[in-house]
Amino acid sequence: MTTSKRSRLDRFLSAKLGINRGDVRLMLAKKQVLVDGIAATDIQQQVDSFTHVALVDQTGCEPFRVLQDNQPQYWMMNKPIGVVSATIDEQHKTVIDLLSVSDVSDLHIAGRLDLNSSGLLLLTNDGRWSRALSEPKAEVSKCYRVRLEKPLTEDYIQAFADGMYFSYEDITTRPVELRIVSDYVAQLRLVEGRYHQIKRMFGRFRNPVLALHRLSIGNILLDETLAPGQYRPLTDMEIRGII
Ligand code: URA
Repeated sequence: MTTSKRSRLDRFLSAKLGINRGDVRLMLAKKQVLVDGIAATDIQQQVDSFTHVALVDQTGCEPFRVLQDNQPQYWMMNKPIGVVSATIDEQHKTVIDLLSVSDVSDLHIAGRLDLNSSGLLLLTNDGRWSRALSEPKAEVSKCYRVRLEKPLTEDYIQAFADGMYFSYEDITTRPVELRIVSDYVAQLRLVEGRYHQIKRMFGRFRNPVLALHRLSIGNILLDETLAPGQYRPLTDMEIRGII
């Protein structure tokens, strides 16, 4: 995973080039280091994994030597049922297998869905962005549409809002907003994502979940033009809405 961890320019250069800090200072004095295309002068300048860093020789005439050139990627996919939310799996096709993009090596999933769940899945190589999305205190809400085996009753609304105690994790779930759409269909809004949380919550009512489809994460809504298995890059607005 690309972590987008920040580090000081002198530390970055000495690690990357195997040189000492004195040599780094010298390179900066000679304007041999370009950070995002601008000659760096400050050893304390912060760089992260998406900062473009290149070297140029003293004359400025030789071609650049690029030390780092990572492009952040942000994708939304309409995850189909039967495909695993993982980067590698020995048994099933993974969501990464569905992507025909040039560099998938650093992509990871920001919020998994179960094998038999479908809908909005976010993939990125920006670890800072995906952490901001999943950090509990950020309370990014996720909406799901759920189809059940047995009819819903009004009792579900209060039980989901009150939270349920999960002894395995020793936690009580945060309030979940449940809206009854029809006898067998509910729409839910959660601000956390415990393991199989929705299925376990309906399990308390002995009501199996037949279909689970994620509609949104924060301000990012599943693009309805995407057929199952299709994907598109996120827009700037969608990306910025999370951070
Ligand atoms: N809760 C579940 O039980 N499954 C999912 O895929 C997502 C939330």
